[in-house]
Amino acid sequence: MELRPMRSWIHHSKGKVLRQAGTTRDKLGLHEDMMTRQGFEGRDAHLYRRNEPIRWKRADEGGELLDFDGTAVQPDDLADAGGFPRPIAYNEDVTVSVSRRGANMTYSVRNADGDELYFVHQGTGTFYTEFGPIPYEPGDYVLLPKGTTYRVRPAGPVNYFLIFESADELSLADIGPLGRRAPFDPALLYVPTPALDELGDGRNEEGEWPVRIKSLGGYTSVYYDFDPIDVEGWKGDLFPFKMNIRDYRPIMSDRLHVMPSAYTVFMTKGFLLGNLLPRPFEAAEDAELIPPYHRNMEYDEFTFHHAGTAMQVEVAPASVSLVRRGRHHGFLAELQKKLRANVKPGDRIDMQIIFLDVANPLTVAPELQAAQRRGEHYSEGTVAKEGAPTQSSS
Ligand SMILES: [Fe+2]
Repeated sequence: MELRPMRSWIHHSKGKVLRQAGTTRDKLGLHEDMMTRQGFEGRDAHLYRRNEPIRWKRADEGGELLDFDGTAVQPDDLADAGGFPRPIAYNEDVTVSVSRRGANMTYSVRNADGDELYFVHQGTGTFYTEFGPIPYEPGDYVLLPKGTTYRVRPAGPVNYFLIFESADELSLADIGPLGRRAPFDPALLYVPTPALDELGDGRNEEGEWPVRIKSLGGYTSVYYDFDPIDVEGWKGDLFPFKMNIRDYRPIMSDRLHVMPSAYTVFMTKGFLLGNLLPRPFEAAEDAELIPPYHRNMEYDEFTFHHAGTAMQVEVAPASVSLVRRGRHHGFLAELQKKLRANVKPGDRIDMQIIFLDVANPLTVAPELQAAQRRGEHYSEGTVAKEGAPTQSSS
């Protein structure tokens, strides 16, 4: 997969079309439908059709848009301090796991297979790392580079982390011409300073300090008579850090709906990971408020609903959606109409959604499969009514 391809200037326009795609609330009496390559960065076509492409009557197994209740996933670490997070979806590039750790780890952990990015949905506490402690709170991204030894110390029993394990080195996305202080100033990254508190946690029942090492997809442990988190100083350009989504300032246009790939925060050659966050609605008279129907031809779209509504549609926190490539999604025309009628100048979008667009297809783990919602449900990625899935905000 090659990102940022050169623009093709070979464009044709046939039949009834909008001259500027993605604008005008009255679309010639037709429905605008977008098909794109390489996310939203490659070649594309906008099709103007008579019917809503999301209005299929029924779908065979595998054709439907998927919606899951993330609160139904119960990893071992919820009740067992020695327990593990639970993988919910994976491919060769990224594994998404849920951790609901309720108490301090009785071991330290080190991932030798990949970088780990925690997104904190619920809870406060500390990542006690060998580079120093990193306090956490909801909305934090905590990046722990491959090889970092750490323990999670929750302040209370209610915690919910989404963990993205990346086989390739996870980088901050290139923001190019926006400049180096947008959409967030890198000076806002929290970088830890060693502070050893010698609480004596991280021990097993024998009083040893195990370090659980993830390697080649499995786990092994080494054991110490001393706390392996014993670093008093560090230097270099490889280190853990955190940032909070409140420090991310979404770019926007008053006149044009900006595509979600513009909100990518982290990327590798296999996926884009970013956030859809509060901002004003587009206010210009001819601006479209809602993304067109579309089918993503080269990514599966995974989303996690952290907070807020999906364009004024109520969504349960921790809802997970998966839209596989080639499946149409978008807002129902009736919802579009309602939204346009409701939105007044100055109104804001309040969504807080984490998205993961993956180049290789995601496999849904049984634990997530068991949490699938069917029938009428709403999720940030999909709105389904009586099994006819319909809407996406990304
Ligand atoms: Fe999408």
